[in-house]
Amino acid sequence: MKNDTITASIAEVFAPLLTSNYRIKFYYGGRGGGKSYAFADSLLIKGRMQKLLIACLREVQDSIKDSVYRLLCERIAFYHLKDYAIKENKIINRITGTEFIFKGLRDSDIQKIKSLEGVDIAWIEEGQSISKKSWDILAPTIRKDGSEIWISMNREEENDPLWQLLAAHPDERTLVVKVNYYDNPFCPQELKLQAEQCQKQNYDDYLHIWLGQPIKSSNNKLISPAVVRAAFEPKNIISHSPLIVGLDIARFGDDRTVFCLRQGRCCHKFISLEHYDVVSVADYCQNIIRDYQPVKIFLDAGGVGAGVYDILVSRGYRRLIRAINFGSRAIADDRYYNRRAEMWDNARDWLSSDLAVQLPNDEKLLDELCSVNKSYDSKGRLLLESKDEVKKRLGRSPDLADAFVLTFAEPVVEQSPPRPPDSIESLFSDNSNGKW
Ligand SMILES: Nc1ncnc2c1ncn2[C@@H]1O[C@H](COP(=O)(O)OP(=O)(O)O)[C@@H](O)[C@H]1O
Ligand SMILES: [Mg+2]
Repeated sequence: MKNDTITASIAEVFAPLLTSNYRIKFYYGGRGGGKSYAFADSLLIKGRMQKLLIACLREVQDSIKDSVYRLLCERIAFYHLKDYAIKENKIINRITGTEFIFKGLRDSDIQKIKSLEGVDIAWIEEGQSISKKSWDILAPTIRKDGSEIWISMNREEENDPLWQLLAAHPDERTLVVKVNYYDNPFCPQELKLQAEQCQKQNYDDYLHIWLGQPIKSSNNKLISPAVVRAAFEPKNIISHSPLIVGLDIARFGDDRTVFCLRQGRCCHKFISLEHYDVVSVADYCQNIIRDYQPVKIFLDAGGVGAGVYDILVSRGYRRLIRAINFGSRAIADDRYYNRRAEMWDNARDWLSSDLAVQLPNDEKLLDELCSVNKSYDSKGRLLLESKDEVKKRLGRSPDLADAFVLTFAEPVVEQSPPRPPDSIESLFSDNSNGKW
């Protein structure tokens, strides 16, 4: 078995384990993200290329059975790596001389820790359990030039020591990557089903176990999953309210541009575009105007959104398009820290209303809507955590939710252009996502 055959089975997010030099490689996320497998496979590959001392560490290791020893043995067997010899307490490579050793940190006496001084790579599994004391002893011990510390963990609490010390504000020698089951191309169907079941039954558990969010962080969420689920239930809402479009425009290569089409109590659909430049987004928006005749389009004016706005204005849509700056002053400035908090709270209000509302059933939308934490500033105004925090937790930008909340940017009083009452419904009835 050649190394490149193993490499091919390592998901892309884990490629930096093999290809980049960082002092700390910190991978975190929920169950099933592929962290343990990728770490094991990557270390086995590295150990075949040169002589390395690899320490597999955890806070407590009563017996070697607690460690990743078994996983490494399984992967060696799976790939038929005959150059590895499995010993009682360690694994060695007969050709390169690489050695894997296994230790618990909590009960290690100073002599045992000293034996780590020649370590090339330390893999800390279950990093959320590592105490500050263990870290303070370990970090200076892994001192060989070019040595690396790899950490895999699922966050337990907001202030897990390793999270706080290494990942909350990473320096340039630290790589921090979030990975969840849906990022893992090898995630077994059974695990995905378990995740989906948990998502339906106990959303807080789901956020922690499967999305890697710290426990207890859900008390201060702005929007509860229950109201979103209620909005997912199919209803037959015929709305004659004007159609409003929210447009969240991609800032970076990995974000999507999303249109959200909402008419009163019915949010009809989302249209996501990837890799569209500003002119193409403006063209697309013009098609939406032609086909759906919205009375207002609210677009996110941050980043490249301003460019799309300028193009649409130059094409004669000044009255139709409103550029919204999320960071600007709220309309109800006494109640909201900024426009973003105001729009999100209007959306929460809409979802919590006594009247039935309809949202397209989309689990990603639910995750995004329910992941934002709220707090209050010194004037008692509603304040949302930063988008960067949300992104870090969610592992992506909440584009669907942002497009949706944009439809609540301002009250729209204009009447719909005259059209037969049911014709707008027929526009949405074909489910033509990506019609253009
Ligand atoms: N490279 C891989 N090849 C085959 N299956 C994989 C691979 N990586 C992950 N898996 C599958 O995904 C599951 C979850 O991976 P695991 O490494 O245990 O995730 P985590 O440590 O993030 O919880 C594994 O049980 C295995 O079935
Ligand atoms: Mg694991």
